[in-house]
Amino acid sequence: MTEERSAVVVRDVRKSYGELKAVDGVSFTVAEGEFFGILGPNGAGKTTTLEIIEGLREPDGGEVRLLGESPWPRNVKLLPRIGVQLQASSFFDKLTAKEQLQTFGSLYGVNSTRADEMLELVGLTDKANEQENKLSGGQRQRLSIACALMHDPDIVFLDEPTAALDPQARRNLWDVLRAIQKRGKTIVYTTHYLDEAEILCDRVAIMDNGRILALDPPAVLVRGLDAPTHVTLQKGVLSVVDATALEGVEEAHEDEVSLTISTRRPAPVLSALAERGALDGLQVRTATLEDVFLNLTGREYRA
Ligand SMILES: Nc1ncnc2c1ncn2[C@@H]1O[C@H](COP(=O)(O)OP(=O)(O)OP(=O)(O)O)[C@@H](O)[C@H]1O
Ligand SMILES: [Mg+2]
Repeated sequence: MTEERSAVVVRDVRKSYGELKAVDGVSFTVAEGEFFGILGPNGAGKTTTLEIIEGLREPDGGEVRLLGESPWPRNVKLLPRIGVQLQASSFFDKLTAKEQLQTFGSLYGVNSTRADEMLELVGLTDKANEQENKLSGGQRQRLSIACALMHDPDIVFLDEPTAALDPQARRNLWDVLRAIQKRGKTIVYTTHYLDEAEILCDRVAIMDNGRILALDPPAVLVRGLDAPTHVTLQKGVLSVVDATALEGVEEAHEDEVSLTISTRRPAPVLSALAERGALDGLQVRTATLEDVFLNLTGREYRA
């Protein structure tokens, strides 16, 4: 990937608050049209990194290029080309949802009819005339996403856009983001939902303590882990002793409701189970990004 084709180039960026190194030498590039995810526990430095790239914070050191430009000091040339949804969104006082969008759009000379399209896009059409402070948390979140997309930017930054959304709204937003990417736009976002990042992102950076611990496509990270596959059966279908004796089984254990087998060779295990007619209630769980995250940070994901 040449840097000229990169939407974002971050080189050795640093930011401290007193003694605390919030961002401690972070480097990565995001290609044009890429869907890039930044994951990490609370306080990892995700928001600080994003805000430095967006030109909202000045780094102590390092270099950032955003669409070939330096975002700091505030670069007005970039504003029409970038859309930003902040973790803590703020709106204009006392305006309705639709007026928020129209006001935002007018800053960029966007036709006000686009406000209706955006409300439709995020499923807020029936809240068009509601004052923003009367919206629920998830509805506000969706409005702030609509604001970020109002002027059809080339690159969109979203800081935990799905955090407060109900499952339906979350999936709708996935569709919206995928559609945006399909139109050639670049998306950089943070999330605590590893399943979501695995589905949406071309590549993810896993951060902790201000550093990037891993950066790759989710599938590569998961494969690199070489974690076992877990096959779960209803308890009683097979004994732990019999399960352990099957070819390819590394470990088997039982709880009150199920028997779980760990294996790195699921094929012979599954065919042996099929031969014994022991497929009742069978579930197969392969390693996920969550396992990669746990392995790297040594802690549970605190969503
Ligand atoms: N303005 C600030 N002043 C002092 N410390 C700050 C400031 N902003 C962030 N920090 C600290 O920097 C670290 C990184 O914060 P940041 O908001 O980037 O984390 P994050 O990865 O976005 O976390 P979260 O998942 O909770 O949103 C934290 O330890 C935080 O307390
Ligand atoms: Mg944050």
